[in-house]
Amino acid sequence: MSVVGLDIGSSSIKVAKIVKDSNRFRLAALGKVSTPRPGLLSESPQDHEAVAEAVKKLFDDVGIRDKRQVVVALPEGKIASRVIKLPLMSDKELASSLQYEADAFVPFSLDDAILRHQVIERNEKDGILEVLLIASPKILVNKYLRILELAKVTPLALETELMALNRALIDPNQPNTMVVDFGFKNCNFAISRKEQIYLTRSFPVAGEALTRALSDELGIDISQAEEYKKAYGLSDQVLEGKVRQSIISLIKSVSVEMKKAIQYFEQEKKETVDLIVLGGGSAGLPNVIQDIAANLRTEVQLANPLSLLEYDQSVFAQFEDEAPVFSVAIGLAKRQF
Ligand SMILES: Nc1ncnc2c1ncn2[C@@H]1O[C@H](COP(=O)(O)OP(=O)(O)OP(=O)(O)O)[C@@H](O)[C@H]1O
Ligand SMILES: [Mg+2]
Repeated sequence: MSVVGLDIGSSSIKVAKIVKDSNRFRLAALGKVSTPRPGLLSESPQDHEAVAEAVKKLFDDVGIRDKRQVVVALPEGKIASRVIKLPLMSDKELASSLQYEADAFVPFSLDDAILRHQVIERNEKDGILEVLLIASPKILVNKYLRILELAKVTPLALETELMALNRALIDPNQPNTMVVDFGFKNCNFAISRKEQIYLTRSFPVAGEALTRALSDELGIDISQAEEYKKAYGLSDQVLEGKVRQSIISLIKSVSVEMKKAIQYFEQEKKETVDLIVLGGGSAGLPNVIQDIAANLRTEVQLANPLSLLEYDQSVFAQFEDEAPVFSVAIGLAKRQF
C-alpha cells in the first residue's frame, strides 16, 4: 500500500509518497514548492485557492496521480495538545472524562473543537493512565478540508505535525529523544519516549524571526538577510560575528524553551533526555547544532528521515542535503492503516 504525506507549511509545501511492502518503507516520490503568501494565515477564498493550486502543481511535478491516500498535517501552533494523567479506567469512562480534562487547558471553546486522544501508557502498578489529548478548532480543520477539496485531494487522515515528526525520526531502539521541527513561523518540539510522544510544545520563533532580526539589526533587506542567515548562521568567523550577534538571543530563547520541557519531563518521569534531533528548514542554520548542544549540554543531531527509508539513490540523492525539511511529510506518509 502507498500513502502520501502532505505538509502545508507557512513557507513551503512538502509532499512525500511512501510504499510499504513487507515491513519496509520505500520512498516513491518527494518534493516541495514555496507556499503562496499569505496562504493559510488568510481567511480569503482566493488565497486558499492559490494554496490549492500550488498543492495540485506539486503533486503533478513529482508525479503523484492518485490523490486518495493522503495524510495531512495540522499546524501544531494552532491546536492544543497535552499529556494528561488519570486514574486507570475503562475506555468508556475515559471517553467521558476527556471533555472535562480538555476544558482545563484548551484555549478555545470545546464546542468548536474536535477532540482526539491516544493512550500512551497504562501503568497497572501505580494505577495511572497517561493519555495524549489533542483538540483542533473546527474552523481550522474545515479550512484544511476546503483547500484539499479545491486541490482534489482526498484526505485519509489529518494528524499533528509532531505526531508525524515522531514517526519520521524515531526508531524502536532510540533513547528518550527530543524531536524538533524548526520551521518558518514556529519551532515545535516533542519528547519521544518508547516511540510515543510524551510532551509537545510550540514556540513562535523560527526562520522568519531570525531573518527579520538580521534585517533589522544590520539594516539590510529581507532577501539579503535570508542569504546571510543561510550562508553564515551562527558562525563567529564572518562579518566580525555580526550575523551571529543579531540572532543569538533568539536561538537562546528557543533553547530555554527546550530546556524547560526537558526539565519538566525529567521531573515527571525520573528519566533523562539523551538526544535532540533537529528537523525543519531552520535546522540547516550553520552552527545551530553546536549552539543548541552547548546550551542544553545534550547531544544534538540533524534529522535524517531518509536514513530510516529505502530509496533509489539515483533519483533521491539530490534531496539528502535538505532531508530535515521533509521530516513531517515523510512521517505522515509512514502512517499505517
Ligand atoms: N540552510 C539554511 N539555514 C538557515 N535557515 C534555513 C536554511 N534552509 C532553510 N532555512 C529556513 O527554513 C525555513 C523554512 O523551513 P520549513 O520549510 O521547515 O518551514 P515551514 O514548514 O514552511 O514553516 P512552519 O512549519 O513554521 O509553518 C525558512 O525560514 C528558511 O529561511
Ligand atoms: Mg513546517
